Amino acid sequence: MIRTAGLVSALALMLATGGCATMTASGSDMPPLPASATAPVQYVRDIHSYARPEIAHVRHVSLDLKTDFAAKTLSGTATLDVQGVPGATEIILDARNLDIRGIADASGAPLQFTLGASDPILGQPLTVRFPALADGATQKLVITYATRPDAAALQWLTPAQTAGGRQPYLFSQGQAILTRTWVPTQDSPGIRQTWDARIVAPSDLKVVMSAETLTTSGEAVDGGKAWRFRMTNPVPPYLIAIGVGDVDFAAIDHRTGVWTEPSRLHAAHDELVPTARMVDVAEELYGPYRWGRYDILVLPPSFPFGGMENPRLTFATPTIIAGDQSLVSLVAHELAHSWSGNLVTNATWADFWLNEGFTVYFENRIMEALYGEERALMLQSLGWGDLQSTLADLPPADTRLKIDLAGRDPDDGLTDIAYEKGAAFLRTIERIVGRERFDAWLKGYFERNAFRPMTTELFLEDIRANLVKGDQALERQLMMDAWIYQPGMPSNWVPPVSNAFVPVDAAARAFAAGGPASAIPWAGWSTQERQRFLAWRQPVATSDGRWLTNAQLADLESTLNLKAEGNAEVVFAWLQIAVKHRYQPAVPTLEHFLTTQGRRKFVLPLFTSLWAEGDWGRPIATRVYAQARPGYHPVTTGSVDEVVGRPN
Ligand code: BES
Ligand code: ZN
Repeated sequence: MIRTAGLVSALALMLATGGCATMTASGSDMPPLPASATAPVQYVRDIHSYARPEIAHVRHVSLDLKTDFAAKTLSGTATLDVQGVPGATEIILDARNLDIRGIADASGAPLQFTLGASDPILGQPLTVRFPALADGATQKLVITYATRPDAAALQWLTPAQTAGGRQPYLFSQGQAILTRTWVPTQDSPGIRQTWDARIVAPSDLKVVMSAETLTTSGEAVDGGKAWRFRMTNPVPPYLIAIGVGDVDFAAIDHRTGVWTEPSRLHAAHDELVPTARMVDVAEELYGPYRWGRYDILVLPPSFPFGGMENPRLTFATPTIIAGDQSLVSLVAHELAHSWSGNLVTNATWADFWLNEGFTVYFENRIMEALYGEERALMLQSLGWGDLQSTLADLPPADTRLKIDLAGRDPDDGLTDIAYEKGAAFLRTIERIVGRERFDAWLKGYFERNAFRPMTTELFLEDIRANLVKGDQALERQLMMDAWIYQPGMPSNWVPPVSNAFVPVDAAARAFAAGGPASAIPWAGWSTQERQRFLAWRQPVATSDGRWLTNAQLADLESTLNLKAEGNAEVVFAWLQIAVKHRYQPAVPTLEHFLTTQGRRKFVLPLFTSLWAEGDWGRPIATRVYAQARPGYHPVTTGSVDEVVGRPN
């Protein structure tokens, strides 16, 4: 077994007594918490947090903040409920780029605090001292603070960066360790906290959060309107999220709906109609949906991810609004996180595959239930293609499911290993034990571990105790340790076969061999078939990795009408081919794509490919980035800066 140095050093058994009054607040549309939510938690050392939860930990966060769009700041107070071992006299919080103005107790008496040295990835430890904790007592800390205009979790959009063009917009992205740039708390996925918030925003904007809304229309106050929220399920802090803007709501069914800017609401609603059935199907598969409502906030185009599973309110990129519901697997993915990730949560970022691998597996089961096996297999097969590229590109050590993140940003683990190798592992177990047994185990796993942090080692314990049950032959057949702790793909992996892709691959070969684009049955293909055609890996071995002539590319571009293509996944796949071939006529399309959306999954690979094309690509990259960068979220600029450099 390979272990991450430092991760196993400080295991401490801690009684989390779960007595927070807010956790059982009446009027909530959420089912009562299961026993697993309040059972003792074994805290595991998280190298991406300064917190020492085994000594003192945050149980509840209460935010009272005012948005200032001119100054690009949130300011006010965060009141923390702290519990810990009797006699504890301090707590260590995570803070990064925050203006801490003062800390007091419940009576207003000041408490001493220190901000330690700043680490570029982790930020600063914020240590607060208080009188020795009595047994079972709660210490309140009232932290008066403000965020900075360049807080990495927040993007402050000008009216011009929105669809409406008249109002500014603010949104947050907490995962993995960015919540500490706008909320001073213990920012570790293993330290769950309930929370509530009162947010004051300008009168013509609405505030939405990843929580129950207690004010359907804001209350008029000095300087705008106040909006109130509460999250009575304990959550890891990376799931605290906010959006402020000119947004409206459209219901899909009694518990699902869409928030977005008014001019986009109709299209977004129609695209996301399948959401309602997805929630039903997910519950049938793996047990009750424990968060009440499931709404989706479709953000402006700079949202740096495809989707983010903020509880009750998934955040999504507008690039999923394709007009034909062809990209809704993204919703299935974020919804699946309501179990894998939001109920059973990776204890540290080295266990990230437990969040994403389980979610990709679950996502595909939802897609299969809604759209059938063929569509599900196509999606699996596209994932396998991506995984093969990832396996070829990454250093072998980073192709283990449990990776070593010592001294690194958790973002380094955000690769298809966690997503696709993780899902492939679960599919392998399913294939070996049969779907019925696998599903029974997985449903039980979510139940037993609901509202709890999960480590890779605890996962192994759970599956050995509840599925393998001492069957030595089965244990050998599953090869679980190899999947988790060894690089690459173990020998029991059976890749998915999509029959639908056989003719697609044949069409790609025929075209590469000199056939006309008019022979490609493009019009009859689904988005997934089109993605496969364009992602099809170099069909002919060439010394420079290029296999098409300019005439072939021009034929493809005009026959498939790629200049007018509206599906972001298809545009992205086409532009990857165009850049690889230094195909100049596609540069305007590329420029448009890179300056009108900021999803990192699209933007970063394209800038990286451009950069790899030296004399041809670098000037284009530099020019386009200078233009695009001001519109990108800090998450995206942080990554692209490393490739292209910061424009001056
Ligand atoms: N939770 C992730 C996004 C994330 C991971 C943000 C790690 C920050 C750090 C989300 O569920 C996700 O995986 N989004 C994908 C879409 C999905 C369909 C694979 C994305 O944004 O591309
Ligand atoms: Zn995910």
